[in-house]
Amino acid sequence: MTRTRCDRTTTWGALQAAFANGASALDLRQAFASDPQRFARFSQSAPHVFADLSKNLLDADSEALLQNLARECGVEAHRDAMFAGEAINSTENRAVMHWLLRNPPLALAGADNDAIKNITTELTQVHATLDAMLAYAQTVRDDTAITDVVNIGIGGSDLGPQMAVLALDAFSIPGKRFHFVSNVDGHELDAVLKKLKPESTLFLIASKTFTTIETMTNARSAKAWFAAQGGTDTARHFAALTTNVEAAKAFGISTTFGFWDWVGGRYSLWSAIGLPLAIAIGPQGFREFLAGAHDMDEHFRTAPLASNLPMRLGLLDVWYRNFHGFTSRSIAPYHSALKRYPAYLQQLEMESNGKQVDASGEALPFATSSALWGEPGTNGQHAYFQMLHQGTDVVPVEFVAVKKARHALDGHQTLLLANGLAQAQALMVGKQDAGGHKNFPGNRPSTFLLLDELTPTTLGSLIALQEHRVFVSGSVWGINSFDQWGVELGKVLAKDVEARLLSGDAAGLDGSTAGLLALLRS
Ligand code: F6P
Repeated sequence: MTRTRCDRTTTWGALQAAFANGASALDLRQAFASDPQRFARFSQSAPHVFADLSKNLLDADSEALLQNLARECGVEAHRDAMFAGEAINSTENRAVMHWLLRNPPLALAGADNDAIKNITTELTQVHATLDAMLAYAQTVRDDTAITDVVNIGIGGSDLGPQMAVLALDAFSIPGKRFHFVSNVDGHELDAVLKKLKPESTLFLIASKTFTTIETMTNARSAKAWFAAQGGTDTARHFAALTTNVEAAKAFGISTTFGFWDWVGGRYSLWSAIGLPLAIAIGPQGFREFLAGAHDMDEHFRTAPLASNLPMRLGLLDVWYRNFHGFTSRSIAPYHSALKRYPAYLQQLEMESNGKQVDASGEALPFATSSALWGEPGTNGQHAYFQMLHQGTDVVPVEFVAVKKARHALDGHQTLLLANGLAQAQALMVGKQDAGGHKNFPGNRPSTFLLLDELTPTTLGSLIALQEHRVFVSGSVWGINSFDQWGVELGKVLAKDVEARLLSGDAAGLDGSTAGLLALLRS
């Protein structure tokens, strides 16, 4: 597989020329006026997700050039290498196979059989673990004495299950509460523990490595609390979700569900890390969640570039970051249950693509990951949408709306959807007649994703879509989207500072750290 970094392709220059020669000045209002087919041309269906890309600052010629860029960079070959189980996480020499966790078992894989012929052993292990994990989820669901499930994990071992359990609350088993403890700040665990009784609590210690300091600290405190409250039968009240089953056993947890080093932390929701979700929505619901994601995997793997939604979104991200120079993207879910979806996408994209060197370690002369941020609509409208409409920076907004509600409250759903549509419309059309403070420049881009309903299937597909679009931009940029060396320095320094906070030794520290250390010790 040959990858060519985007800035070394001939198409990169062609895109720069196209941008300079008019593409940068595209006016969406004119584009719609002059092309009655614009909505049809720039929108598409993908499995379980409809996407309207027509309100983006992109014309057909630029999009065709972006697709050429993908071809020249070898994005399709890179994608195929991922789906063939090659070690595309080159800095850690690991395969990238979170998608295999959603693959049907070999016997049912049918036409996909050819694609997975070299990784059938892994697929067999995946299904053995999945079956065991789902059987355990069912016993927890049946165990009415367990009323509280506490997930202790951070980053990918927290954001995914937390986002999905909240999103699928309408499908959740009655009579069980789900808690997520991630922060090493003891206030968080303390507040949860105050609501619990040992005999009715199940702690899930979720950590790919089983070494993460925050998770280990919280896990130790939970274990100590359990013993101090008279808890017995650790095997019934603690389970570990990890690739490091040995460390979990050494910690004293005998119920463990494993996964593999070819599942990145921020891609691990589909593995044993998804256990809280499996308990909440049940084995059948979890299988539907995996199946929805698999449908999107197949779309990404097989659809032609021009109608491949993850490809189109990833290439749009490159267009905005490297040609328009936009530095952030705002995520606007118009569904209150998607409240942790922006935070989930933040880790997914920023930890994957927040890189300054290419896969071979060479410094990049262009920008990579945008900053992702957002809140559910309509709340964001009463907070930061002012800046989106009238601020000096252009921030592309990515809406996601859900057509059918699962409540029967009169009027709410129409009002919610009207607000989402109206915000996207207002960003684009603006208002120029009033002038001054009342002027809206308009021509501000947005993407509108639409789900028919928010179900395990559609959520699975939506999240897989987001994973793959991150793959596409990372692939064009020539980076390794699957490592995260940037988190290491802070971890090392925190250990040093912790010792210094205890001892007071400030020798060799910079003036600011030494000054703050002295204040904290006084
Ligand atoms: O922040 C770095 C990181 O390694 C993330 O990539 C990961 O999701 C998180 O820490 C938690 O790691 P673990 O699951 O090993 O505890």
